[in-house]
Amino acid sequence: MLELKKKKSQASSVNAEGRLRHIAFIMDGNGRWAKKQGMPRTYGHVAGAKNFKKIIEYCGSIGIGAVTVYAFSTENWKRPADEVKTIMSLFRDYLDEAEKNWREKDIQIHFLGSKEVFPPELRSRMERLEQESADRRQILNIAVNYGGRADIVHAVNTLIAQGKTEVTEADITASLYTAASPAPDLIVRTGAEQRLSNFLLWEAAYAEFYFSEVLWPDFDERQVDLAVNEFYQRKRRFGGL
Ligand code: IPE
Ligand code: IPE
Ligand code: MG
Repeated sequence: MLELKKKKSQASSVNAEGRLRHIAFIMDGNGRWAKKQGMPRTYGHVAGAKNFKKIIEYCGSIGIGAVTVYAFSTENWKRPADEVKTIMSLFRDYLDEAEKNWREKDIQIHFLGSKEVFPPELRSRMERLEQESADRRQILNIAVNYGGRADIVHAVNTLIAQGKTEVTEADITASLYTAASPAPDLIVRTGAEQRLSNFLLWEAAYAEFYFSEVLWPDFDERQVDLAVNEFYQRKRRFGGL
């Protein structure tokens, strides 16, 4: 019954054609969202984390096979210590939740970014979640301590360690943290800025971009639909005619 309902909503959804296989979000604007209400920036991160869960559920329900979210960049460590602490504690809360319920979900989790910076306990929890969810259908990539440049360097170093002295594009693609996912079809940035901020530099070569003025905690299912509809209006040529 549930399965039937799911199929129906997928078929009638904005992604009915199924051409949108991978969507990536730069979840920006949490701090400004909080400030607008006279609240501390950390309040915005709490709201942002809640919204993240809602949006990944929704993307799954409209049949998008891979979702990537930019949660924390290699540059975000520059922020005040209390803000970094709040974000890390929200990340821990998410891990707790994921550990509790990943078995009921058909989602394989990947953490994009080097885990070296995290305490060993956190790191092994992340690795365990990745391993235990590996045979699931849908992909969720969470970019934490992620930088697009750092990932390319990491990929090249992996290849060097394997003994390669010359690399191909395919080698690099297969050695990135995103190796399990198809290239992103659509990259959505909320919060009005129009830049990549070191996100998916290699993978974005032929992605479509969608910039929204809406701040991340307010970016709801309807906003996702607007982005997806816009994606279907684009003519992708990949350099051809
Ligand atoms: C995005 O929101 C979340 C992270 C970068 C961790 P911001 O914290 O960048 O919010 P703004 O852009 O300052 O409003
Ligand atoms: C990008 O947002 C990183 C994340 C959303 C995690 P930033 O707020 O860090 O980007 P800049 O500083 O405006 O470029
Ligand atoms: Mg920002």
